[in-house]
Amino acid sequence: MAASLVGRKLLSVEDLDPDQTREVLDLAHEYHMKFVVPQLTRPRRLDILTGLDMIGLFYEPSSRTALSFRRAAMNLGMDAAIVFEAAEQTSKAKGESDADTGRIVSPYTDFLVVRSPVVEAVREIALASNIPFVNAGNGDDEHPTQGWLDQLTLERELKTRDFNGLKIAFLGDPRFARSIHSLAKLLALHYEGVEMTFVAPEKLWPQEELCQWLSTRCRFKGCVADLKAGLEGVDVAYITRIQAERFRDSQPDLFEQLQAERPKFRVNNTLIEQVNPDVLLMHPLPRVDELDPDVDTRKKAAYFRQAANGVPLRMALIHRLLQDD
Ligand code: NCD
Repeated sequence: MAASLVGRKLLSVEDLDPDQTREVLDLAHEYHMKFVVPQLTRPRRLDILTGLDMIGLFYEPSSRTALSFRRAAMNLGMDAAIVFEAAEQTSKAKGESDADTGRIVSPYTDFLVVRSPVVEAVREIALASNIPFVNAGNGDDEHPTQGWLDQLTLERELKTRDFNGLKIAFLGDPRFARSIHSLAKLLALHYEGVEMTFVAPEKLWPQEELCQWLSTRCRFKGCVADLKAGLEGVDVAYITRIQAERFRDSQPDLFEQLQAERPKFRVNNTLIEQVNPDVLLMHPLPRVDELDPDVDTRKKAAYFRQAANGVPLRMALIHRLLQDD
C-alpha cells in the first residue's frame, strides 16, 4: 500500500512516489467511469467530503484548471470558492506578502490551490499554510495536476500503464510551458524506457539543466527545430502554445523573431496525414495557432477528452489529500 497522502502539500510531480502516483491514478480511473463516461447521467455529488471546502487563489488566468478543480471538489460533496484575478481581488493589492497570504487563508478553508506567474510565490504560500495544498501552475516551472491528468489521458487513450518504449515528442514551447516540464519529468521519473524529443524553434528549447536531468533518467533524444522530422515515427505529439506572456515584455526581440517562425510550427491535418497519421495528439489547451481546428475530427485528437480528464484526476487527488479511505 502507498504511504498516506493526507495533509500533504504538492508542488511538483516529484512529490508523489511511484506507489502514490499509481494510487491516485487508479482512483482517477474509477472516478472517470463514474463521472466522465456517463456524461448526462453522472451522479450529482458524492457524499465523501461533505462539510469540507476548497479555496483556489488564481493570480494568473485559468479556465480548465480552476473550473475543473471546483467541479472536482463539488463532485466529492465539498464547497468550493475560486478567487480569480487574485492579485487585484485580495490583500495582495495592498502589499500583503505571499507568506502572510498562506498564513491567513489556512484557517478559512480545508484545501488550498494556488496558481501564480511567480515561480517562488506558490512555494511561499504553501510553506506558510498548514493545510493540504496543490500547485496549480507556478510560472514557467511546473503544473503537476496537468502532468498527472496527462498520464491518465495516455493510459486511457493508449490502453496501457507501461510507457517504456513509448515515443513522445513535445512541441511548441518546451522552454516556458510548465505542462511540458511536469509531464516530461513524470514520465522520466517512472519509465526509464520512455523516449522523448523536444520540437521547437531553437530559442524555445528547454534549459540545459532539464535536458541533462532527462538524459540520466530516460531515453532523451534531444531537441530538433524541424516539425516534420520531430513528428516522424512518434506515438504521441504533445503540443503547446508559445507562452508569450512569459517573455513578451522582457525579451521583445525574441517575441518578434518567434512571430515570424510561427507558421513553420503549425500542426494541421495535411501535415499529420503526410507525416504520421497514427499519432496521438494531445494539448493542455488553450491553443492559439499552433494546432489547426481541422485536426479536431481525427479519432486520435485527444485534447478535449484530455481536458475532461481534469475532473476525475483532481477528484482523486483532493480525496487522497483529505482522506485515506
Ligand atoms: C496550461 C497552463 O496554464 O500552463 N493551461 C492549462 O492549465 N491547461 C497551458 C497553457 O497555458 O498554455
